[in-house]
Amino acid sequence: MGKDDVVNLALRRSLFFPSAEIYSSAPSGFWDFGPFGHRIRRKIVDFWRKEFVEKEGFLEISGAQILPRDVFKASGHLDNFNDPVVRCRKCQSVFRADQLISEATSAVVPESISTPEFDALIKKHKLRCPSCKAIDFDETKKFNMMMKLDIGATGKQEAYLRPETCQSIFLAFDRLYKTMRQQLPLGIAQSGASFRNEISPRNTLLRERELGQMEIEVFFNPLKENEVEKWESVKDYKLRLLRLKEKNVKEYSCMESVDKKIVSSRLVAYLLCRTQQFYAKLGVPLPLMRFRELEQEARAFYAKETWDFEVETSLGWVELAACNHRSDYDLKSHSAVSKHDHQIKDLETGKEFFPNVFEISAGLDRSLFVLLDVSLKKEKRGPEERIFLSLNPSIAPYVAGVFPLVNKDGLNEKAREVFGLLKDEDFDVFFDDKGSIGKRYARGDEIGVFGGITVDYDSMKDGTVTFRFRDSMAQERVKIADLPVFLKKAVKDYFSTPMRK
Ligand code: GLY
Repeated sequence: MGKDDVVNLALRRSLFFPSAEIYSSAPSGFWDFGPFGHRIRRKIVDFWRKEFVEKEGFLEISGAQILPRDVFKASGHLDNFNDPVVRCRKCQSVFRADQLISEATSAVVPESISTPEFDALIKKHKLRCPSCKAIDFDETKKFNMMMKLDIGATGKQEAYLRPETCQSIFLAFDRLYKTMRQQLPLGIAQSGASFRNEISPRNTLLRERELGQMEIEVFFNPLKENEVEKWESVKDYKLRLLRLKEKNVKEYSCMESVDKKIVSSRLVAYLLCRTQQFYAKLGVPLPLMRFRELEQEARAFYAKETWDFEVETSLGWVELAACNHRSDYDLKSHSAVSKHDHQIKDLETGKEFFPNVFEISAGLDRSLFVLLDVSLKKEKRGPEERIFLSLNPSIAPYVAGVFPLVNKDGLNEKAREVFGLLKDEDFDVFFDDKGSIGKRYARGDEIGVFGGITVDYDSMKDGTVTFRFRDSMAQERVKIADLPVFLKKAVKDYFSTPMRK
């Protein structure tokens, strides 16, 4: 499907839409999620929690969204969380310098090059202002993307909306390590909103000012980075890696990627493997994914090794998760500024050390957008064309809709009974008796509902219903009493296709 199809679907069915859209003063980069979009988004987080966080035995927290200035002085965000911006002297429009250059020249320009280097490139390519076409730019400047707040009646307590959820994980590390009686390696996760004052939000959920994140920070002893308890279970798993200076993705087993020093340790290979497996299970086809290695200039200021997990979409390759080796950067910096020592004792050597961190920082809204993009299908069936969203049933807004074939002769009441039975068994189902049965199937298919359960005249006689599968449109007759077992099996079977292993 094309690049506008997801957005058209989203707006047509209110999966997501611009926040405060009825006001022309609403700033861009903020999105609201309607009932179906919110359900899918919530289920992506639930899936991440169940399949990744809890299966790994990680802890999950929920921290405050507003944190004091000192946190971001220590974290480096006040000094380094900058985008290069350039202003047109004629029309005063402001642009991100790296985007301005890369869009005009098709070259990839790392955002971390120096401001004079940006100016030189703008001059060399004689770039014009995309708004007024003038060749008259100011010098490039660094623009800090933090969103500032003044707390309390005096307004003197300077604070910021968090730009990444992980800072409260670093702040709480020592407390959780001690009070939760933990050992290294220790994973701590958090999902929630982060805020970035993006200069040019674009592509709906792909570059927002308020963004959902699902972050995991794994704390480990740097001397034991190759001691991975579950190594045997992943060592032969093939990672899809795009290394620096290579043009194509190549598959390397976890073992090979460590032995050939492609990744820095077994722990890194293990966590990349779990990330790839998570997205495969979530519904991204393996051939569409890769980890792209980032060179130093392209990495975030705190990272010493980065693999961006990317998916090929109708908009090109989109980064869904940054996998960063943050070394001891965070705990050391917060210890220095707060004077709260985050070092722990190595029981074997007796020496104090700062745990290192490997992070899997996934974008929730990006993941949602990309899952919609890779799942949206158009299919011709005879003269008819249909659109369906082939979502993993675990993140589908509903596993099934329950439909009476017609609204008479007791069919509606029977269908409500079936609906009640499935709700009591904890299935995510909805009831719909409006319009023709074909339209009801089509409405469900378009938003990814996994199946349709139709109560018809035979149901009144023999207690069976029709189950219609969203993707194949195949129909099966099922006894009402067997529906819970049938639905559970149908969902389980979806995961046994080879692509999802
Ligand atoms: N914590 C990394 C990021 O937000 O990109």
